[in-house]
Amino acid sequence: MEKVNGIHLDIAATEAFLPAADLDALAPRVAQAAADLEARRGPGNDFLGWLDLPANITEDDFVALEQAGAQAQQDSEVVVVIGIGGSYLGARAVLDALGRSPNAPEIMFAGTGLCASGLQKVIDGLQGRDFRLVMISKSGTTLEPAVSFRILRGLLQQKYGAKGANQRIDAVTDAKRGALRSLAVAEGWRTWVIPNDVGGRFSVLTPVGLLPLAMAGVDIRGLVQGAVDMRAACQTDDLRSNPAHLYAATRFGLYERDFHTEVLATFNSGLATIGEWWKQLYGESEGKEGKGIFPASTLYTTDLHSLGQYLQDGRRSLMETFMVVKEDAEDIKVPADLDGGEGLDGLDYLVGQRLDAINMKAYQGTRQAHGNGGVPCLDILLDRLTPAAIGGLLYMFEKGVAIGGRLLEINPFDQPGVEDYKREMFRLLGK
Ligand code: PA5
Repeated sequence: MEKVNGIHLDIAATEAFLPAADLDALAPRVAQAAADLEARRGPGNDFLGWLDLPANITEDDFVALEQAGAQAQQDSEVVVVIGIGGSYLGARAVLDALGRSPNAPEIMFAGTGLCASGLQKVIDGLQGRDFRLVMISKSGTTLEPAVSFRILRGLLQQKYGAKGANQRIDAVTDAKRGALRSLAVAEGWRTWVIPNDVGGRFSVLTPVGLLPLAMAGVDIRGLVQGAVDMRAACQTDDLRSNPAHLYAATRFGLYERDFHTEVLATFNSGLATIGEWWKQLYGESEGKEGKGIFPASTLYTTDLHSLGQYLQDGRRSLMETFMVVKEDAEDIKVPADLDGGEGLDGLDYLVGQRLDAINMKAYQGTRQAHGNGGVPCLDILLDRLTPAAIGGLLYMFEKGVAIGGRLLEINPFDQPGVEDYKREMFRLLGK
């Protein structure tokens, strides 16, 4: 398979578990699923706006986002992004992967739960600092962000007055519906639209993700271009040349052979939050009607010293997808012996080696060991962490789950089960 923006998917280590002929036999079903998506056929077909979204972002869109970003960089030391699920995970994942630019405000996240101590930490972090709020909710009614927003908006008003506060709030929500839209119109906040046909967990390349990222000084054009490139690469019906289709077919083929959990494992701390975003995307999209692969994530080598034992030797129902960055931006090398040439710490065999090269050996060793232990392994290799690589990765996972949902014969674009906890919680709260 050709690399796309430095991304390469390798499924060679699954072949002992999923014979090549069985994988190739899935190609017609995958091609049919892709054709149905393109033709907007099948369950959830009114939520396919994300498919063409990257290519439809206009120059005016970019300029508006970049201007808002420049304004935040000029008037704020902190931006608090308030949202939950698909309304924050994408921005956080990209930010953790790429980092903010040096002149950009710190980005804090709130409304991601109902933990008072967590919110207090955000409030403490705002003391004496200029800040603004980005409130994100597609429905405009989700409890967690709404409660945090009410509290943080109160602080904003105390600091800047009602009028000043209104100039420091961005609302990202549905074009017409919901309490947040009504409030934004009434108070005159700047607003951004989440398209009707894009669900929360597919919204990272709408203002949901792009506005906070622009404020953090991330190269949003590079990110979007990466998704555009991946979309083009995922058009072919040649299964083995299409990264998203190959990923979807491989994990589905393994699922049919009783590998029911997928662990997305990375060796790069910057990619750990991509794992959190991916868990939502795959868990909420696939876990339906008693079906679906359970998505878990790990950060190695840290988790090799905790979950590693289970991965190597526990119940054999796991597949593992490694997400690996070949070259780290940081050039850190193991220095010469500090003990007068005696090598007492036993590390002389590593002197002069880059840490990322050692990390690659840890990955290769882990892959070999887990494969020997009965874990089918997929490999997503990234040459470097660039905006285009991350944009490509996000799109590949989005298309992959859409195809996977079709193979499972469920609707990957709804989340009826999420409503159940809300119903019980609201009953207890007396709503
Ligand atoms: O993917 C989804 O649709 C959900 O996870 C939502 O993103 C999440 O529940 C937040 O919803 P809202 O943006 O309406 O507040």
